[in-house]
Amino acid sequence: MWTYSNPVNVIFGTGAYSKLADLIGGRRYALVTYPEPPFAELAQRIESVAGKPVLTIDDVAPNPDYTLLEEQSGRFADLAEPIDVIVAVGGGSVIDSTKVFAAAGGNFGNVARFLETKAGEDALSFLPIIAVPTTAGTGSEVTCWATVWNEDKGKKYSLAHPELYPETALVDPELMLGKPLGLTLATGLDALSHSLESIWNVNANPVSARHAVAASRLIMDALPQLVRDPGNLDLRTDMAEASLCAGLAFSNTKTAIAHNLSYPITLGWGVQHGIACSFTLPTVLRSVIGIGGFREAALNEIFGTDLNAGADRLTQFLSDLGIGARFADHGIPADKCADIIDEAFAGERGKNFVGTKDNFIAAAQQQNVIRLSAA
Ligand SMILES: NC(=O)c1ccc[n+]([C@@H]2O[C@H](COP(=O)([O-])OP(=O)(O)OC[C@H]3O[C@@H](n4cnc5c(N)ncnc54)[C@H](O)[C@@H]3O)[C@@H](O)[C@H]2O)c1
Ligand SMILES: [Fe+2]
Repeated sequence: MWTYSNPVNVIFGTGAYSKLADLIGGRRYALVTYPEPPFAELAQRIESVAGKPVLTIDDVAPNPDYTLLEEQSGRFADLAEPIDVIVAVGGGSVIDSTKVFAAAGGNFGNVARFLETKAGEDALSFLPIIAVPTTAGTGSEVTCWATVWNEDKGKKYSLAHPELYPETALVDPELMLGKPLGLTLATGLDALSHSLESIWNVNANPVSARHAVAASRLIMDALPQLVRDPGNLDLRTDMAEASLCAGLAFSNTKTAIAHNLSYPITLGWGVQHGIACSFTLPTVLRSVIGIGGFREAALNEIFGTDLNAGADRLTQFLSDLGIGARFADHGIPADKCADIIDEAFAGERGKNFVGTKDNFIAAAQQQNVIRLSAA
């Protein structure tokens, strides 16, 4: 027996942004976005048709962190007018920050307590969210969780609650045309990681697997073309669709071992999320050969019947995009690898993984991806 559910209303297509005012529908809204000029223009476009927001948070920084989130959440307290809905126009950092604001009710302490102790759910308040992604990567527009970073303590938390599913995901690929190359690459690989991680996952089901197969195939076809032709709207549309499908897949499974390996690598060595969670994918793929069932069938649909050859092709795909498969390629010293791997397998996302640590280490050593002192 299995179940699949996702409550987000999806509106997708070039020009979809013009529907935003209808979606706000006269409600009092807050707008959350980045400080850069293209986003001020997008904010202006909404304001001209939907009226002025009650509150604008336009200083979202990449990787939402405790310090800024606390200060920004406070701006929602003591407003002259209450807010009915929060509109997020941006990538994962904007949508995830919005989920924090939606839950904090003006007091970030409520969210911090829930993140750190899993207690205090009653103190959370859930405002509806309209998510307008401007990156094709995180899938946050169709998930009910947000990644929250605490750099001072070197920790990463996941805020997760069913009430945090956005009411609507408004996906307009045109908003993604201006994405710089590095961001296009990192976010595209994040989406690939979400789709594959949802397959080698204890929570996978046949519907999540269908979404994941569609997403992975589309990304492996479109992303290399897009980095050569970043102004191509058709390819941007393919990546937006793939990222959405990956989101629909992992909204039901969460991520797995490649993501859990990535968090200390991002915190410790500053490797961008999308790169950190994708360079291990060929090794993870090799380590799950033989798992059988619909999961291996899904991997076969993406990589062919010979998954070792598929892992070679995935390594080449990443290498062609400039991403090395070895930990050392990302600046991680050999003496840190064992601890990173041990902790990743022990954590919650690690436990979502259907494979084993022994098989992962064997695959990594066989391909010279890691050198452990015991090897
Ligand atoms: N909630 C989830 O399920 C989930 C999943 C994966 C990652 N994440 C989190 O999301 C964050 C990363 O999000 P992201 O990769 O979407 O990037 P981001 O939101 O951090 O944005 C990075 C930079 O890209 C710029 N940018 C965004 N869209 C642009 C556009 N269309 N044109 C030009 N510049 C643009 C922004 O100004 C920003 O400086 C991380 O914190 C990560 O941990 C969350
Ligand atoms: Fe991710």
